[in-house]
Amino acid sequence: MKSNYLKIHPWKIIEEGFDPKRVKSSESIFSLGNGAMGQRANFEETYSGETFQGSYVGGVYYPDKTKVGWWKNGYPEYFAKVLNAPNWIGINIHTNGNLLDLNQYKSVDNFRRELDMQTGIYVRSFEVQIDSACRIGVEVKRFLSMDQAALGVIQYQLTALEGSCHLEIESYVEGKITNQDSNWDDPFWNHHSASHSNSVMLLKSRTLKTNFDVATYAQTFLIDPKGQQLSDFDEVSENQRLSQSKKQILRQGEQCSILKFGGYINGMNYSPQTFEAEAQRLVLEAEKKGIKKLIEEQHIAWSKIWDLSDIEIHGDDAAQQAIRFNIFQLNQTYNGKDPKLNIGPKGFTGEKYGGSTYWDTEAYCLPFYMATKTHEVGRNLLKYRYDQLDKAIENAKKIGFDKGAALYPMVTMNGEECHNEWEITFEEIHRNGAIAFAIFNYERYTGDTSYIPEKGIEVLIGIARFWAQRVNYSEYQKAYVMLGVTGPNEYENNVNNNWYTNYIAQWCLNYAADQQEKIKQENPKRWEQLSDKLNWNSRETAQWRTIADQMYFPKHPDQDLFLQQDGFLDKELHPVSALSLDERPINQHWSWDKILRSPYIKQADVLQGFYLFESDFDRETLSRHFDFYEPFTVHESSLSPCIHSILAARLGAVEKAYDFYLQTSRLDLDDYNKEVEEGLHITSMAGTWMSVVEGFGGLRIIDNQVHIDPKLPEAWEAFSFKINFRGTPIKVVVDKEKVAAIHSNPDLIVHCKGKPLD
Ligand code: BGC
Repeated sequence: MKSNYLKIHPWKIIEEGFDPKRVKSSESIFSLGNGAMGQRANFEETYSGETFQGSYVGGVYYPDKTKVGWWKNGYPEYFAKVLNAPNWIGINIHTNGNLLDLNQYKSVDNFRRELDMQTGIYVRSFEVQIDSACRIGVEVKRFLSMDQAALGVIQYQLTALEGSCHLEIESYVEGKITNQDSNWDDPFWNHHSASHSNSVMLLKSRTLKTNFDVATYAQTFLIDPKGQQLSDFDEVSENQRLSQSKKQILRQGEQCSILKFGGYINGMNYSPQTFEAEAQRLVLEAEKKGIKKLIEEQHIAWSKIWDLSDIEIHGDDAAQQAIRFNIFQLNQTYNGKDPKLNIGPKGFTGEKYGGSTYWDTEAYCLPFYMATKTHEVGRNLLKYRYDQLDKAIENAKKIGFDKGAALYPMVTMNGEECHNEWEITFEEIHRNGAIAFAIFNYERYTGDTSYIPEKGIEVLIGIARFWAQRVNYSEYQKAYVMLGVTGPNEYENNVNNNWYTNYIAQWCLNYAADQQEKIKQENPKRWEQLSDKLNWNSRETAQWRTIADQMYFPKHPDQDLFLQQDGFLDKELHPVSALSLDERPINQHWSWDKILRSPYIKQADVLQGFYLFESDFDRETLSRHFDFYEPFTVHESSLSPCIHSILAARLGAVEKAYDFYLQTSRLDLDDYNKEVEEGLHITSMAGTWMSVVEGFGGLRIIDNQVHIDPKLPEAWEAFSFKINFRGTPIKVVVDKEKVAAIHSNPDLIVHCKGKPLD
């Protein structure tokens, strides 16, 4: 069941009215990020009600020692956790001696949050009666600069609506911060210096064990009722906490503003010796520009992003708002500028899924970033895995593989596996396939044929070597089988011959062999270097081909159907529609044992294969499999509805595709899974984008050409989307009468339903 406390608006997310029960959810929904840092929408002032405080710095993590009941050989030593970083946004306000805390009032009036996705500015406002002598109005504007990775801006405006208000303002930086998600309640940070210098509060910290250096800085100004900007604050520094305080009296009708610049300077990009100078520079520059100019710049930065990526939907504001929210959040999470960073399932909006990188990046996110940014961004995402190949080889070695076999981790920050549930760590190995597929997908989309011989081939070979060792020959089946795996459907563990895993393994083996042969033939010198580096054995490709040719796939004995895994038909095959609503989601109501024995599918599994390898199957085959598997699918992973939306659109079931689209795109806004307070589902947002562009738009790249096959849901009058295809921005516009592809490249032909568009 969905919740709908947020207003529908094409460009804005709006909440009206204060409800303490919604605070944590809204903290997620109104999160801010700029690719380098991000934070939940926590209040600046004290809030003693239920809240989930979170502010994160890209790439900075702590290796939280593994905690399991029953240790299994091969488990990783730690789980890399995104770290809650020191709080730089804090502003405490005492009014006539009372601490402003929205949890303490009988009524909070005209409470409103508004996130303007067009400009990237978040505004929160409210009014409270402090005492009989003073009623105060507050409006806070906040944003994280898209131009300056380390700059955040807050304008906290106070108005005396009635009576006189004696304000005591305390703006602070607080180092005493913990993670909600922590195995042993370890301290994660060592704050080694806290100082005020030239009115800038600077807290220098180093993460324990991982030694990441981060400086949290902030400076506060007060613009008094006469419009004068003051910076003469009383400064205190004690116990990892720095503050700047000032008093101000507001008479009825008067207003003052607290202006605060702050953020994190990340030692991954700056030497710690320069932290202080950098913080001074950031504040000085921001002060010189002033809030108006900074807001203008933020608007311009977002306009540039929207110019390349906006999707317009006419006639359906709920769908319009949703797709923009998804695109907005993806851009807040990752901008492709820094190849050391990646896209965590919760981005900067929560701690769940602690580590940063999952197969989500390759299977779901790559298409969005490739198509809405420059192709280098796609290349950076691939390079991230290339740079971690040695670790993937080491990871495979730890669990018994050798000769250069690579198993990429299920969850990682630095290439090392962090996940520690055996049925996932050791068994959900299909992730390796998505990483290989992304290399193919990148070349198909960008036409960049240099990546594979330069780098990609090493990854493909490592992965193929893994599959070749992971299968075994079954005398009984007279075929290669893969035992003890978990497919994308995590509601089945330790199954034999998950169809999807076997299929993608077969594809990887063939693709790696093709690419190896191609390089050897076209670029023998390069191959010579590679074969030395990789200890190549000339019999390898032949062996891979044999395995691929003789791979076993479970099939229905009577119908033309692939089975999700051996034994699937032994289950009691009741469809999801037979479940009562109060059993859903089953992962919150059923025992794990009951889930494992049920036929219920968490997310696309066989159908994930049909999505990735669409050209291998005709429409009837897809239709048969969709009709068989979808009725058992509970879509309890955020990654599920988008794939089903794309497949339904391909089958011409446009209204079904539309229902799935609403589920995927409004998952967080409407809180379908009752968990938005933990953070947003960032990686599935890229799937939402795919469901418009690949689903309703029907975008495919076939033989270096752009093909579309648009379908318009009933509820939409028209829609348009934008892609960057090999340097040419294209805007596809679809309405009830026509389809147009607007671009300025005379050599580029866009094909619609197989025919060139005029
Ligand atoms: C899904 C995985 C996904 C992970 C992170 C899980 O619920 O089943 O496929 O990688 O979430 O998004």
